[in-house]
Amino acid sequence: MDKPGRMIYYQQQNIPMKTESVMIQCEMAAASKSRLARYSDLIIGRRGFWPLLKYELIVLLCSRVPGLLGLWLRAKLYPCLLGKCGRNVVFGANIVLRHPHKIEIGDNVIIDDNCLLDAKGRDNTGIHIGSGVFLGRNSILSCKNGDIVLGERVNIGFNCEVFSGSRVLLGADTLVAAYCYFIGGDHNPQDVDASVTQQDTCSRGIEVGDKCWFGAGVKVLDGITVGSNTIVGAGAVLTRPIPAYAIAVGVPARVVRDRRVVRDQRVVRDQRDQKP
Ligand SMILES: CC(C)(COP(=O)(O)OP(=O)(O)OC[C@H]1O[C@@H](n2cnc3c(N)ncnc32)[C@H](O)[C@@H]1OP(=O)(O)O)[C@@H](O)C(=O)NCCC(=O)NCCS
Repeated sequence: MDKPGRMIYYQQQNIPMKTESVMIQCEMAAASKSRLARYSDLIIGRRGFWPLLKYELIVLLCSRVPGLLGLWLRAKLYPCLLGKCGRNVVFGANIVLRHPHKIEIGDNVIIDDNCLLDAKGRDNTGIHIGSGVFLGRNSILSCKNGDIVLGERVNIGFNCEVFSGSRVLLGADTLVAAYCYFIGGDHNPQDVDASVTQQDTCSRGIEVGDKCWFGAGVKVLDGITVGSNTIVGAGAVLTRPIPAYAIAVGVPARVVRDRRVVRDQRVVRDQRDQKP
């Protein structure tokens, strides 16, 4: 579906449109709130002295500490900020956690240096990271009142972004190479004279099945579903749903093969080659 088509679809389906990006700037400029209240709302996600003190102390004590000491301190202290945190979780240096009480992490997860995990939102549940997940350096999980779910053993390379205005799910054992962007929300630029930032946003979310592989630099647009066991070639832009077991490449991405057909052809070829 092209973009104007998607916008009409959103309106027909009554999919909520929001102006989140603008709301944040409005909140920052809201004269009715103190600076402390604005900071608490945007970063901590809770009002009050104790949540603020806890967040500030933990971040100050360990967020930038290098080496083994930093890893040890963060492993001990970051779980106190999070909604849930499993065993043996590694937190790199300079990770930013926003609304951390809405972030849940399973066992044996690695979050590399400089990642941002932002679970911000008024009525979302936040970020859910399954056991065995790896999140590469500089990658961003960003909610704008949406949820992000990473299935078990999802592996995300460096400099990736997963953005969610509603719900973005990456199924278990999915591999995401560097520089990928899952764009789980969109703008509604129908008023041609107004700035996009002053218009509504909308989100249908993204759903990716298990055991997929996204090559480097793939972009997945809002509303896209990807079936399980699919491979998406480097640099592709996904504008349509991709079925399970497909190999999809290009801009816009097109299915060039079914992996099961390739496998069956290989089996037939191998059997033929083995015959005396
Ligand atoms: C898609 C990919 C897996 C190859 O799959 P494949 O089934 O072996 O496909 P082929 O190489 O036979 O190519 C099939 C067609 O798609 C084209 N193609 C392959 N990869 C492409 C890509 N990334 N973008 C655009 N077209 C591509 C080929 O040119 C070929 O076109 P043709 O039939 O007109 O000649 C591979 O090209 C790729 O992109 N891998 C990702 C690598 C990566 O990013 N690694 C990061 C480390 S995690």
